[in-house]
Amino acid sequence: MRAPLAAMHSAKTREFGGRLLAMLTGNVLTQLIAIGHRTGLFDAAASGSATVAELAARAGLDERYVREWAGAMVAGGILDYEPGASRYRLPPEHAPLLAGAGASNVGPAANMLGTLAAVLPSVARCFTEGGGVPHAEYAAVAGAALGDSWRQIYDEQLISGFLPLVAGLLDRLEAGVRVLDLGCGTGHAINLMAERFPRSRFVGLDLAPAAIALAEAERAELGLTNASFTVADATELTAEPGYDVVLAFDAIHDQREPATVLRRIRQALAVDGVFVMVDADFSSHLENNLDNPYAALSYGISLLYCVPTARAQGGPALGALWGRELATELLAGAGFPDVTFHASPRPQNYLAVCRPTRPRRDSPAGPCGAAGDRSTLADEAVARAEAPDTPAEDQ
Ligand SMILES: C[S@@+](CC[C@H](N)C(=O)[O-])C[C@H]1O[C@@H](n2cnc3c(N)ncnc32)[C@H](O)[C@@H]1O
Repeated sequence: MRAPLAAMHSAKTREFGGRLLAMLTGNVLTQLIAIGHRTGLFDAAASGSATVAELAARAGLDERYVREWAGAMVAGGILDYEPGASRYRLPPEHAPLLAGAGASNVGPAANMLGTLAAVLPSVARCFTEGGGVPHAEYAAVAGAALGDSWRQIYDEQLISGFLPLVAGLLDRLEAGVRVLDLGCGTGHAINLMAERFPRSRFVGLDLAPAAIALAEAERAELGLTNASFTVADATELTAEPGYDVVLAFDAIHDQREPATVLRRIRQALAVDGVFVMVDADFSSHLENNLDNPYAALSYGISLLYCVPTARAQGGPALGALWGRELATELLAGAGFPDVTFHASPRPQNYLAVCRPTRPRRDSPAGPCGAAGDRSTLADEAVARAEAPDTPAEDQ
């Protein structure tokens, strides 16, 4: 006779088994949250308690599928259930996190995680064969979903939350300046700013043609004449025509050659220009990130998106958790000795205000890795990223 599981394993193993069960459950619930977001089920549930039939009718969906979804939502503690009346309810305290167009709605993030799962076989292949997964492969499965989580954040927090952190920036945008958003993705930040600040001129640059097509379509729909978009490799950014403000939202660590891109930005900035870099708020050292509740999620997203897309371009792939220490070193090496890190409206991101030394427009940016351009930490990070047999724990 086989011993019961409880008797076979130590308390520690059983406790870990419980945590693993919670992880597997969380994975499935994340996928169902994505479905609830895509189909409008959470918005339907937010408008009041309902039977399954009423929920399905409100959202215009097949009742049988909604019943199974609602069962999982109740068992997962997301919806409340009233057994006598067979009614389901989205608690008002849960609603801002799952319904509506606010920045706190996790639906777009759950949806984005679902699309990342579609490229798992390609990422797994990279473990054995090296190389990367091109952005186009993600775009083919994700479409606009890749930019959706930032879209809602920009709507709520760009103009009232992020931009005011940079002293004097709102006044300069009102007066009229030249702005570049580097790695603009689907371009929503540019379009919002161009609408709000008609005297300024905005350019969005990204390597991904599919993202730029979506950005341009939104610009045309809004009838904006002070915004434009271009498909380009940021590594080849030129010093002319020059910008007063360069923004990069969550984009520098994804670059093929981050150190080169930072130098190019410095050279493209006007003398009194400012570079505003929003990036993931972590340390460059794993051991300092262990108490950060976003660390495991961010390492995972970095592995499933940031590293493969950068490697596909032939880059070192710094990863999303390149951290403040390495960012400070690379910025200093690029001619930004004066960097102030601010807490951003999102705990996952810092906003770094980077002021240049006097720009040397006569000295073109050399290739990433040119002698004397990188500091010790940067050298180590690039070497680690390039070493095929580096254990994950070291990253
Ligand atoms: C995480 S996304 C940034 C999201 C974007 N800022 C937004 O608001 O949605 C990183 C972006 O950097 C772009 N990118 C990566 N390497 C690039 C390169 N070498 N030149 C230009 N853009 C690049 C990617 O195509 C992607 O859109």
